[in-house]
Amino acid sequence: MLTDFHHFKGNSLSRSEKIQRIVTEMILTSKLPDEKRENSIIWELKHHAGTVQIGRILAQKRNLDTELAEIICVLHDIYAIVEGKYNNHAKLGAGIAKKILKNSKDFTQQEIATITEAISHHSEKDVYTDKPYVELAKDADVFECSLYQGAEGFYRLHKPEPVFKEYVKRIKKVRKELGLAQDNIFRG
Ligand SMILES: [Fe+2]
Repeated sequence: MLTDFHHFKGNSLSRSEKIQRIVTEMILTSKLPDEKRENSIIWELKHHAGTVQIGRILAQKRNLDTELAEIICVLHDIYAIVEGKYNNHAKLGAGIAKKILKNSKDFTQQEIATITEAISHHSEKDVYTDKPYVELAKDADVFECSLYQGAEGFYRLHKPEPVFKEYVKRIKKVRKELGLAQDNIFRG
């Protein structure tokens, strides 16, 4: 029998949903105000949830494990969520993610290794590997960001030209995969 969706309340959350709840609560209860962040609380709320949804879509397209994809995506910027900074956030975030996953006691060592590897390398957008979850993390992150108003201007201002070009290349790759137009790849 079908039961009502829990809306992330109660005792019936899956292991993935528990991790998603933990991350969202970390954002909501953060003591670090926007003034002391490179990001904002609202941005992290929107981007972590948006990236999870993109990750689910890409996992379906690529026949990957949706659960692993959503956990990677929800944790990918965990260092920036906690510390409000992006310098080396991928590598540093992998350590925080490992602790969260270990504390949950819901994941095998192999699963934790796959998840933390993807988080650790997600900033290397210019590198293409044969590791499906590493690529999914990069693709979900950059494509999600491209959908926001002003994303192109932000990237052009804050990223060196070669890095910007790599972002464009990756966004186009994802858009092609999803059957989306190759021009006007940023929201105006
Ligand atoms: Fe991100």
